[in-house]
Amino acid sequence: MIKVFTTREDFTNYKFGLAHDSIGIIPTMGNLHLGHLSLLKQSLADNTVSVITIFVNPKQFGPNEDFDKYPRTLDEDLAKISNLALHSDLSSNDKKEIIVFAPRNNDEIYPTGFNTIISVKQLTQKLEGKFRPDHFDGVTTVVYRLFKIIGAKNAYFGQKDFQQCIVIKKMIFDLELDIKLNILPIVRNTEGLALSSRNQFLTTEERMAALHLSKTLKQIEMLIKNKEDYKPIIANELNNNKWDYLEVLNAENLEEPNQQTSKLVVIGAFKLGVIRLLDNILVQTV
Ligand code: PAF
Repeated sequence: MIKVFTTREDFTNYKFGLAHDSIGIIPTMGNLHLGHLSLLKQSLADNTVSVITIFVNPKQFGPNEDFDKYPRTLDEDLAKISNLALHSDLSSNDKKEIIVFAPRNNDEIYPTGFNTIISVKQLTQKLEGKFRPDHFDGVTTVVYRLFKIIGAKNAYFGQKDFQQCIVIKKMIFDLELDIKLNILPIVRNTEGLALSSRNQFLTTEERMAALHLSKTLKQIEMLIKNKEDYKPIIANELNNNKWDYLEVLNAENLEEPNQQTSKLVVIGAFKLGVIRLLDNILVQTV
């Protein structure tokens, strides 16, 4: 069964009496694709109540970014969620519920006078943080608000925004939030392009050129697995000004790796016209 709430008050009334450990949250900005739906599916498997939030958060967009153009497709999103509900065993299991929390305006998340920022330091200064100052402060602030409002035990995020996941993991740790972070694998199209709401803005040529991102990450992954030097490839790639960054880091904390590091992330941001595409691959070294 699917219920849609557009106000905090209505959601809070519904939530009254629900056990914290029965709720999963999937925070999104809508324009859902198969990546988001994979998070919802996992939440359905793990929780009695799965709350997918749909809110285009103004605080995480810089002044010259695409907040106004960000696709708002609530009707299509609801259709996709209903379709998933129909094709999962939800209909045969009355106890499982999908809730869509789509705040009707910003006040539902940030009431008048709201003046607090949740800011994770250091981790947010590198990679995306260098190119999108204040972006992660906007993300952690809204995610904290959503965690608070929804009161879930499990949270589901996609690995595609890997730095976002690590920043949220740190926020959960530092603030001792009673929520478990579940990071689910990237969903790709048949050619290997990581699914993203912004892919729809790529021209046919850009879509082809975009494959260079995942192919390069894959090439570096192979070198790491074969214990070969990947640094010359990175240096060579960075001569191409399409890359904002391309790095191999410790996947636990985004620090420089050393001999003891057992899990690496190969992570990059690639520019195609006005679109920036993010991608990453996790590599276990031992
Ligand atoms: O990943 C996203 O879509 C957003 O950054 C999130 C986590 C929903 C916060 O607005």
